Amino acid sequence: MIYVAAVAVAAIVAVLHFLWPYLVGRGGAYSTSSRRAAEWAFRRIGVAGKKVYDLGCGYGGVLALAKAMGAVPVGVEIDPVRWLVCALRCGCRVVLGDMFKTPLRDADVVYIFQWPSVNARLAEKFRRELRSGAYVVSYMWEVPGLRLVAYNPALRVYVYQV
Ligand SMILES: C[S@@+](CC[C@H](N)C(=O)[O-])C[C@H]1O[C@@H](n2cnc3c(N)ncnc32)[C@H](O)[C@@H]1O
Repeated sequence: MIYVAAVAVAAIVAVLHFLWPYLVGRGGAYSTSSRRAAEWAFRRIGVAGKKVYDLGCGYGGVLALAKAMGAVPVGVEIDPVRWLVCALRCGCRVVLGDMFKTPLRDADVVYIFQWPSVNARLAEKFRRELRSGAYVVSYMWEVPGLRLVAYNPALRVYVYQV
């Protein structure tokens, strides 16, 4: 009986660990991007030497890819466990905090995999803070009001330029 209760509690903790940012209205829940989608967008842009932010970087898969492609990666993650794994994995600057409060003025490329309502809120921040010419890559969902410069429907990835 104690064993069943322990397994149930562990399962609930694991599910909450993935879902909590969405449940409390801070952003998207955890899921992982398709590596092929991110790679397609980064090749299209040419990220070598560019500063690439991943807002809500999870465990760092996209940042590790950006680094392998010669970019200067920067992560922002609100969940402390994901933040720690990402920082150890990527060996780059990873901010533990809220992406809505992180300045983006030095970004050349911003990568997101969030949620439609979150993308709409981020769009306002992008218009306010990103320099002209900076790119926004969104996996899965559109970002309203930005200029679309490339889209891969098979990989569900959107590339915008400010
Ligand atoms: C769908 S996952 C994307 C993970 C990774 N970027 C990828 O594409 O594989 C969304 C991530 O955003 C994080 N997140 C949600 N709201 C956030 C916020 N306000 N600030 C920073 N990170 C946030 C979640 O903890 C989660 O790790």
